[in-house]
Amino acid sequence: MTNSKPPVPSRPLRVAAEVVENAVEGPGNHRLVLAIPGWPGAEPGQFVMLSPGGSSEAERTDPLLPRPMAVYRGHAAAPPGGRAEVEFLLKVAGRGTRLLADLAPGQSIRLVGPLGSAFVPVAPGKRAILVGGGTGIASLYELASRGTEDAEVHVILGARSDGDLMGVDDFMALGVNCHITTEDGSRGRKGRVTDTLGELLEAPGPPAALFACGPTPMMHACAKIAFERQLECQVSLENNMACGFGVCLGCAVPVHSGGYSLVCRAGPVYSADQVVWEGLS
Ligand SMILES: Cc1cc2nc3c(=O)[nH]c(=O)nc-3n(C[C@H](O)[C@H](O)[C@H](O)COP(=O)(O)OP(=O)(O)OC[C@H]3O[C@@H](n4cnc5c(N)ncnc54)[C@H](O)[C@@H]3O)c2cc1C
Ligand code: FES
Repeated sequence: MTNSKPPVPSRPLRVAAEVVENAVEGPGNHRLVLAIPGWPGAEPGQFVMLSPGGSSEAERTDPLLPRPMAVYRGHAAAPPGGRAEVEFLLKVAGRGTRLLADLAPGQSIRLVGPLGSAFVPVAPGKRAILVGGGTGIASLYELASRGTEDAEVHVILGARSDGDLMGVDDFMALGVNCHITTEDGSRGRKGRVTDTLGELLEAPGPPAALFACGPTPMMHACAKIAFERQLECQVSLENNMACGFGVCLGCAVPVHSGGYSLVCRAGPVYSADQVVWEGLS
């Protein structure tokens, strides 16, 4: 499948953003709202690098590296000379995300972005099936919100348990077809997102296109399903990243065209058939 990606801003911002809100939304889950001066807007699937260390004596040393975070909501540009409020959904995974979760309103944080490639938008007349697992859900909201007018949109949101799910009410408010799954059955259907995906694909309807973001095994499973059924499938990879702009080579992923691709530059969005999935974890 050719992946003609939409144009994205070529020069990311490097600014101090102000924390407007940092709300707890379940165990380890936070909704972080930042006011970002001069924000140029972002396309669905793009991300920023946030430097969680303090801006005082421990600057850029604890932790040393910024952390990638998908732009969840707030893809509109700031007014001239003004700021835009942009939302992020984050789950505490380690030291960096703990520091992000502890930020208080009024504090400032360094941000670089928007970065990376975007999803090719949902085509008219298609049945778009968006599959989000864990924190991957955050990359899909803007895509879901833009696809509702001219396509049938289904969103499958999955997590280990109810407390791990993020943003469900926001997706439901969009009026898209929402399908919730949890591995322990504490909310929605018990099982994996791919169980629901298989069922949706069996149902009659317009040709399906898949969009997936989540743990690598989940995206690999979606890629296999798409390959078997000859469906378009885009994935947004969540590789560990150290720099976010092509310098450290830490995010490289093997691709069928030969060699490696830098997820922070060429991705995070790829056509699933570009990625060599075997051996990725
Ligand atoms: C493009 C992109 C978008 C992302 N969007 C979001 C988002 O919207 N919300 C969110 O909560 N997280 C998101 N992540 C993941 C997030 O960046 C990591 O969880 C974070 O960097 C971990 O940093 P830490 O210091 O808290 O943990 P660390 O101490 O660095 O690591 C703690 C544990 O998390 C694992 N880990 C580290 N990075 C990742 C990763 N990228 N994916 C999976 N496991 C990881 C480590 O292997 C380790 O086991 C995104 C990642 C990428 C690449
Ligand atoms: S994160 Fe450094 S090259 Fe991609």
